[in-house]
Amino acid sequence: MSTPQWHRLGVVAELKKQSLQALQVGAVPIALSYGDGRFGAILGTCIHEGGPLGEGTLEHDCIVCPWHGQMFNRLTGAAAEEGSAAVARFQLKEEGGDLFIDLEPVTPSQPAVKPAHPLTRAIERAPGPLRVVGLSTTAMNRQHPRFSTSEHLLDVALAHAREACGAETRLIKLNDLSFRHCEGYYSKGADTCTWPCTITQQDPADELLAVYEALVFWGDVILVGTPIRWGAPGSLYFKMIERMNCIQNQITIANRVLIRNKVAGFIITGGQDNIQAVAGMMLTFFGELGFQFPQFPFIAHSRGWTAEDMEENVKQVRVSAELREGACALTARCLAMADGLLRAEQPVTSTERGGRKAHPI
Ligand code: FES
Repeated sequence: MSTPQWHRLGVVAELKKQSLQALQVGAVPIALSYGDGRFGAILGTCIHEGGPLGEGTLEHDCIVCPWHGQMFNRLTGAAAEEGSAAVARFQLKEEGGDLFIDLEPVTPSQPAVKPAHPLTRAIERAPGPLRVVGLSTTAMNRQHPRFSTSEHLLDVALAHAREACGAETRLIKLNDLSFRHCEGYYSKGADTCTWPCTITQQDPADELLAVYEALVFWGDVILVGTPIRWGAPGSLYFKMIERMNCIQNQITIANRVLIRNKVAGFIITGGQDNIQAVAGMMLTFFGELGFQFPQFPFIAHSRGWTAEDMEENVKQVRVSAELREGACALTARCLAMADGLLRAEQPVTSTERGGRKAHPI
């Protein structure tokens, strides 16, 4: 064991005034705590994503990381829930009224040993036909569902993708998923918003995983259906896209674009108007994620500001040949663009692509 190299931290009487504080000794961040007559010093960098432990909070003898809430014993550095995981712990001594630290850890940092989350795998397109994800963001009573105009047109679009274009399809209704609201980790700092989403990593019951899988890994085309609610997309749409900040944030913090060669199109319906504003919001957001758009990237329907007879609206959409044609044409435009993007990326034979051919438009 090497001879301790003591570094002065400060006056004991002063340091005792704070139960937890962040100190810096050279390049080493320290989380210094005081309670029940004892100082504790552990590394100030969380083993999870590097959160500043000295800026956390104390719960009994545990320091709670301010980023995602993992807990570490303030005296030993041991993680509360991660088996043998720990942050490094340091030796302290009091002398002449001052507190000193030896930066040679008594016990080293030990990352948690657990299987990698499935979303951390490399993003590679599996061979096969073009794939269309339909994402319905309309909210309704699960026991007593109603007719949704946007979902109806999404169904039409997916049927066309399968039956006329030979694509594989997957419909996700956000209303059927149980998922948490974004908890605003990004607001603490850009690095705090992680990929995979912190909630997805920590909460196996959160079902937004299905959306991440479909958008980032599986789909070539994403068709998003939304109602218009008070001039904006529906609330489930916003609940979902706030959770997608983690996709965009990878560009900011890691120069990593998760969405490549993917196309988005939108189906927007509402009893009253504001279609262009809704489309503008959706185009902006999905553009920021990295999606590309075909010519005429959305279809929409609204009967205007004065139309309060919503049952007529539903009837109209049910029977409208024009809207059906519009949904099919949007699908075809999106698929044509996705096909072109993939061909430009990988100039290989159809055999190498698992038999995928240009789809009939
Ligand atoms: S960085 Fe500490 S809990 Fe995530």
